[in-house]
Amino acid sequence: MRKNIVAGNWKMNNDLDASKELVKGIKKSIKKLDLKNTRVVVAPTFVNLLSVAKKAKKSRIEVAAQNMHQADNGAFTGEISADMLKSVGVKSVILGHSERREYFGETDELLAKKVDQALKNKMEVIFCFGEKLEERKADNHFKVVESQLKNALFHLEAKAWKRIVLAYEPVWAIGTGETATPDQAQEMHAFIRKLIVDKYGDEVAENVSVLYGGSVKPDNAKEIFSKPDVDGGLIGGASLKVEDFVKIIKAAE
Ligand code: 13P
Repeated sequence: MRKNIVAGNWKMNNDLDASKELVKGIKKSIKKLDLKNTRVVVAPTFVNLLSVAKKAKKSRIEVAAQNMHQADNGAFTGEISADMLKSVGVKSVILGHSERREYFGETDELLAKKVDQALKNKMEVIFCFGEKLEERKADNHFKVVESQLKNALFHLEAKAWKRIVLAYEPVWAIGTGETATPDQAQEMHAFIRKLIVDKYGDEVAENVSVLYGGSVKPDNAKEIFSKPDVDGGLIGGASLKVEDFVKIIKAAE
């Protein structure tokens, strides 16, 4: 049975001290919680991964990277490889975030390579996708999401999906304070699961966690997460405050 996941994408926020404080606070707060079916993930910036991973030891907190290069190693100035991430205890990576697509030109084709590289290294991929505002307004959102998934993920074999987590993040809801309504999220998540049923069958589709991301806050998390095809969230702004993030974790249980 699939798990709920609450993942905090810290983006380009928090220096070393702030990162350590934040993970320490989350660790302390969730110790008291009896979490049964919810995984907790935090994704700090690269330079703080090791420190955060050390602090997260002996807790339920898992540490993910926000990006990764598709090559094993070599002359790629400024890039980070799967081996480097694994060597500091990181086993999950966020790929395909809309900010990577928008500001750094990451395409579906590139993302397919990054996904392959992560899976070759037995890492988990938290794969982000979602439509822009104009695409939703033009009623193209289902088509956009379908092509993002097909282009980057549908070349995979069924067994590879054990290491895939999906994160539907409508771009118009990211950092805007405007969330998809719970019904809009459910409608899209059900559509996504159906695409996976059609391609891979019921078992793969039932086992893949599909997270919602985009202005999830303590006061709207419970209603969104209560939808049957929403298996937790990928949280930006609200993951930067211990209290807010922990409330969202509680909402997922
Ligand atoms: P916000 O929660 O700040 O809208 O960000 C969502 C997001 O992009 C998570 O990856």
